Amino acid sequence: MDKKNTQEEKNSQSSYSEGGIRELLDRLALRSSVEEEKEAPAKTYDDYKFWKTQPVPKFDEECEAEGPIDPNTDIEKVSKEPYRLLKEFEWTTMNLEDDNELREVYELLTENYVEDSSAMLRFAYSAEFLRWALMCPGYVKDWHVGVRVKASNKLVAFISAVPLVIRLRDKLFEKCAEVNFLCIHKKLRNKRLTPLLIKEVTRRCHLLDVWQAVYTGGILLPSPVSVCRYLHRSLNWKKLYEIGFAPLPFGSSPTKEMAKYHLPSATATPGLRPMEKRDVAQVQSLLSRYLERFELAHFFTETEVQHSFLGDSEVSKGPVIWSYVAEDPKTKKITDFFSFYSLPSSVLGNPQYNDIKAAYLYYYASDSYPKDDSKASLDTFVERCKLLIKDSLIIANRLRFDVFNAVTVMDNNLFLKDLRFGEGDGYLNYYIYNYRCPKVPGGIDSQNNIDKSRPSGMGFVMI
Ligand SMILES: CC(C)(COP(=O)(O)OP(=O)(O)OC[C@H]1O[C@@H](n2cnc3c(N)ncnc32)[C@H](O)[C@@H]1OP(=O)(O)O)[C@@H](O)C(=O)NCCC(=O)NCCS
Repeated sequence: MDKKNTQEEKNSQSSYSEGGIRELLDRLALRSSVEEEKEAPAKTYDDYKFWKTQPVPKFDEECEAEGPIDPNTDIEKVSKEPYRLLKEFEWTTMNLEDDNELREVYELLTENYVEDSSAMLRFAYSAEFLRWALMCPGYVKDWHVGVRVKASNKLVAFISAVPLVIRLRDKLFEKCAEVNFLCIHKKLRNKRLTPLLIKEVTRRCHLLDVWQAVYTGGILLPSPVSVCRYLHRSLNWKKLYEIGFAPLPFGSSPTKEMAKYHLPSATATPGLRPMEKRDVAQVQSLLSRYLERFELAHFFTETEVQHSFLGDSEVSKGPVIWSYVAEDPKTKKITDFFSFYSLPSSVLGNPQYNDIKAAYLYYYASDSYPKDDSKASLDTFVERCKLLIKDSLIIANRLRFDVFNAVTVMDNNLFLKDLRFGEGDGYLNYYIYNYRCPKVPGGIDSQNNIDKSRPSGMGFVMI
């Protein structure tokens, strides 16, 4: 029996309802799968030896009074000294303007950030991606925190924060941080280094009068403000299948599966074109109006819009972020906008393929968003979103991405299933450090299924 037949047999017998690729991509996306969570005995609040000492809400606690959990904001009381590490290690502030130091972070993450449980897939962040993500407008060098081995100078752990403004319902957090890229070298795991990294980056934020932070994770910690679910859409089904991750559903055939995910080569939105620098003000305005509909949202300035959606380019062209606008040919008004970013994964030990090229749906906005409660307005808007995001699939397909991923944020839960996105096994927990508030709906219902009845409350996409 040839390799393909063996693979076919394996995949057709797969116990995953929607297929291995989803489970693997969920893991890869750094979000532990439900399966992993099911296997481990449930951790109670008291088991969180570190997190129970932190100003975060407990599980299931009623929010009687919204506000900071620790109200202290006295910078004078913040230690000027870093936390103590074991004598073999030292803190370092990574200077990401230096390509060598950027490369060190890239290598640490590439080798240690996240793998699926069988070590077949691993995130393959590019240095350009990290530069884009970590050197955003107003970034603070001191918040790119590393740990080195004193003797060898080797970077063995990293955590970062970047400044941003978020809006939670009617409250604006003008000084907030987004914490990301927590990573510890595999040889230093389970040694309680994570609490030190978190406390150190928190100390550095406090020194700049920042007392709240947002962060996400697949693992459940006390206590998420919102829980979203992953969605995945095969573009190159054949490749995903040949790697061994996309299943061949019972009763189907490769020809049928390829036909199912086939996309036209031309986009269909009138006036669609790559975003340019001259569009920044209009995109900022459109995106801000659109995001006002959500309970928790990133509050974008024009400078951030330029950086987030164009990077260093005058015209959107990748290789990390792609952004498109639809321009009304008569009025020249930008009516719609969408963006996606590239985050590939290495395929380890496969003779045929080295990587899976994954695109992730990022921010989008459409002026057709419902202005009243009527079904007709919602239907018009949903149809428009389908047109736009189908075009983003077409463009991603032309760019030879293999899979397109999304989370149930913004209005995604209303239309992505119709575009052949499938529910993943992974969940993405959103957290706010040092703030207690009522939960924000994350686009899934009480059974954790996609909630097509209403948009999610989340207007915040974390990379
Ligand atoms: C996540 C990672 C840094 C944890 O390191 P570790 O060596 O397993 O854990 P440590 O012994 O250092 O610390 C354990 C504590 O960190 C907490 N922790 C683990 N992962 C965490 C995360 N992603 N975010 C916040 N806290 C986390 C644990 O809950 C535990 O605290 P508790 O006692 O309150 O439960 C490490 O596994 C890693 O680098 N993984 C790959 C990258 C990754 O998954 N990063 C997280 C991105 S969301």
